[in-house]
Amino acid sequence: MFTSKDNEFIAWYPTCVRAEEAEAVWQRRRAAFYVHIPFCTAICDYCGFAVERAAEAAVPRYLAALEREIRRYAELGRLGNHRFECGHFGGGTPSVLAPADMLRILDLIRGSFEVTTDAEITVEVNPISFTPDKAIAYRDAGVNRISFGVQSFEDRLLRIIGRPHRGRDVDDTLVAIHAAGFTNFSLDVIYGIPSQTEDELRADLARAVATGATHISCFRLEIIPFTALKLREAARDIPARLTIEQLDAMDLIVSEVLGQHGYREYGAFNFAKPGFESVHNEIAFVAPQGEYVGFGNSAYSFINGHVYTNHAAVDAYEDAVEAGGDPIVLAHRLSLHEEMSRYFVLGLKFLRVSRTRFIERYGLEPELLFGPVIRELEEAGMWTRVGEEWKVSARGRQYINNMAKAFYIGDSRGRRQFAQFVPNLTPDQILRYARRAGHDVPSESSP
Ligand SMILES: C[S@@+](CC[C@H](N)C(=O)[O-])C[C@H]1O[C@@H](n2cnc3c(N)ncnc32)[C@H](O)[C@@H]1O
Ligand code: SF4
Repeated sequence: MFTSKDNEFIAWYPTCVRAEEAEAVWQRRRAAFYVHIPFCTAICDYCGFAVERAAEAAVPRYLAALEREIRRYAELGRLGNHRFECGHFGGGTPSVLAPADMLRILDLIRGSFEVTTDAEITVEVNPISFTPDKAIAYRDAGVNRISFGVQSFEDRLLRIIGRPHRGRDVDDTLVAIHAAGFTNFSLDVIYGIPSQTEDELRADLARAVATGATHISCFRLEIIPFTALKLREAARDIPARLTIEQLDAMDLIVSEVLGQHGYREYGAFNFAKPGFESVHNEIAFVAPQGEYVGFGNSAYSFINGHVYTNHAAVDAYEDAVEAGGDPIVLAHRLSLHEEMSRYFVLGLKFLRVSRTRFIERYGLEPELLFGPVIRELEEAGMWTRVGEEWKVSARGRQYINNMAKAFYIGDSRGRRQFAQFVPNLTPDQILRYARRAGHDVPSESSP
């Protein structure tokens, strides 16, 4: 086999280096940032996010910790190789903050890292915390996209899910958004609310479309354990849930109606007018995913080959930052195989997955690792290969999480993701709803 001895001193591998790739060595990585503001004016009954009522919270302490966390990234040069093409202030409800507080954080980020001048900067707002003045302050500071939590325009439905605003408040918020000149705004709509009729859903969708929103996120109501809504359900304080068949029919109505009005379903739950797909989704989810850093409690990140998440509890987060360390509570370094699986798992949520870009990134054909899954999904009609990408079918869209989970590997298989959400009920609420559900709990006057 070896006819002559090879004396080359092998120090470089692979051997296929090329001059034209040299400038890519320090190419900035495409990235998105997220800032979590865990406060709301009032807590909605259906909400399972880690949030606190702003009036009762130590907001200045949280903001000081948030700024310190951001500065730590900057001082340690951790994001020196990242170019941020978008940022998202979410929560909770960032619009509960005084505009000066929120904009100071935005300025700190822009002053500390490379944020492109045309970066998409989104702020989540809701009707009870957003005002015309705030809209103008955001616009002047460079916020160029508003994400508005409408949930429903119908007071009857808002009452059932325990959302404190009413339909007329939605109209006021829309006036503020338009008056400040925001042309790019998204609405969050919840459907599948107990006792909601198809006509009510169609009416909500028609009103959402009529606002001129460029983007609509439609979420099927999830009744989350340990929320006030779940306890009200147990206490029969809300109508019975819709059946699975009714909910499935509503999924189709959402796609049909929004499709008829020029919104393309570019991701599960996400509909956009052409050109208004969220950049944040594009970077964080669409394959190949970019890097993603989350600041604040319960924020998660994908940076430097690791996924990690900060403490969900606000005080645990603040304690960790104030002690001079990282507020990270859970982390995992991805193996290359896990990165490849993540490419499909998250990419699928946005309904198309590029084969070519997988090969460019990883240097091998995805079929070599995922061949049986890819074929199984094709044979089941969940997706089809169209040119260089796989496109999820209408049937696959119904089973999108099953499809994503088919790509889980190793220790992730069969596991649920780490719960970011913590119950937000007061002890008093828990007792009140438990009592109404017929449980034997101490009366209100008991110690
Ligand atoms: C962080 S909130 C948005 C901003 C703001 N806090 C608000 O509520 O208007 C994100 C969105 O998730 C959706 N959401 C929250 N809890 C949900 C649940 N239990 N089921 C379905 N969608 C939910 C709502 O549409 C909500 O607007
Ligand atoms: S749905 Fe939004 S406003 Fe309501 S409690 Fe949750 S985060 Fe706050």
